[in-house]
Amino acid sequence: MQTLTVDLGDRSYPIHIGTGLLDQALLKPHIAGRQVMVVSNETVAPLYLERLHAQFAGLEVADVILPDGEQYKDMAHLNRIFDALLGARHNRTTTLVALGGGVVGDMTGFAAACYQRGVNFIQVPTTLLSQVDSSVGGKTGVNHPQGKNMIGAFHQPVAVLIDTEVLQTLPERELSAGLAEVIKYGLIYDNAFFTWLEANMAALRARDNDALTYAIYRACEIKAEVVAQDERESGIRALLNLGHTFGHAIETAQGYGNWLHGEAVGTGMLMAADLSARCGWIDADDVARTRRLIEAAGLPVQAPADMSPDQFVALMSVDKKVLDGRLRLVLLHAIGDAVVTDEFDTALLHQTLSAGADLGRI
Ligand code: NAD
Ligand code: GLY
Repeated sequence: MQTLTVDLGDRSYPIHIGTGLLDQALLKPHIAGRQVMVVSNETVAPLYLERLHAQFAGLEVADVILPDGEQYKDMAHLNRIFDALLGARHNRTTTLVALGGGVVGDMTGFAAACYQRGVNFIQVPTTLLSQVDSSVGGKTGVNHPQGKNMIGAFHQPVAVLIDTEVLQTLPERELSAGLAEVIKYGLIYDNAFFTWLEANMAALRARDNDALTYAIYRACEIKAEVVAQDERESGIRALLNLGHTFGHAIETAQGYGNWLHGEAVGTGMLMAADLSARCGWIDADDVARTRRLIEAAGLPVQAPADMSPDQFVALMSVDKKVLDGRLRLVLLHAIGDAVVTDEFDTALLHQTLSAGADLGRI
């Protein structure tokens, strides 16, 4: 087992990463009271809930099992968690435990942020995406019909437990979606990691445990470093949104759950690289490498054909990075060097949004 720390003073917490960790009694030290509410969904609970329960032997444990899907990441289903907590008389010392992917993790974290004005929670992420990104850093929330993740709070977990073995049951398409967020760290922060990913993408897709463990460790290490520097996203943390402004527009336009979040982010990152090349900040080879790696991860490299540039711009203007009415985007100055900027020519953005099958072929 390897352990990283998210360094946030007295709210610091460990990220344990290893194989078979679900069966190791690592979580009990993080339970403050005697009550535990596990939140999971109808797909993940039959696979892993029983093993997780063994961690909490001797405590008062209840579960709430949500329907599976991004379309249920909303206020109505958040209320089910509150109903379960109140129904089982959970008090302020209860600990919520998220067992599932990013949808369960974001909803559980938000429920923990709100219940009785804030209780502890633990992340046990079971998708690659949630292991490398959403379980770390304390962004929690639900979607609104008008925008992704628009209702939420910053609320850090007290521990993150990553068992790489659970990835063996993850559907192929979900593995690829997680790889999008892994590629993101190479693009924004670490040129050497991007090169490592180019050499190891086949091993990752074949679920080689060593390759997956290294990728998860490096991704969490970068995320922990960024979050420790800028917990509330007033600076460097915004770089973690590479591809997300484009991606959220795709998700909102296509209906939550139709394009997976990671798929939309994968295409969105290619759009960001395409625009960066049009701006003259990266060269044709960089954007071609980005396209090849995203394609090798099994991700789409073309925006939905039915989305017009105007629809993109309208949806992108709901983004949380919009400041004083100006759209700001995460763009690339090099592979491994990203910036948040509004200094791009709108005509070039329109070229990217109209590129179709030629996206990333500058
Ligand atoms: P998800 O939670 O919908 O999980 C994907 C699918 O895999 C679901 O059907 C789930 O039931 C299933 N699944 C999960 N673990 C499994 C396993 N081990 N075996 C078999 N099936 C399994 O999707 P996701 O990609 O994990 O998360 C996407 C969500 O995360 C989005 O809502 C996105 O906005 C959010 N997100 C949040 C942050 C953050 O910082 N909070 C960062 C990135 C993404
Ligand atoms: N996924 C973006 C962030 O955590 O900031």
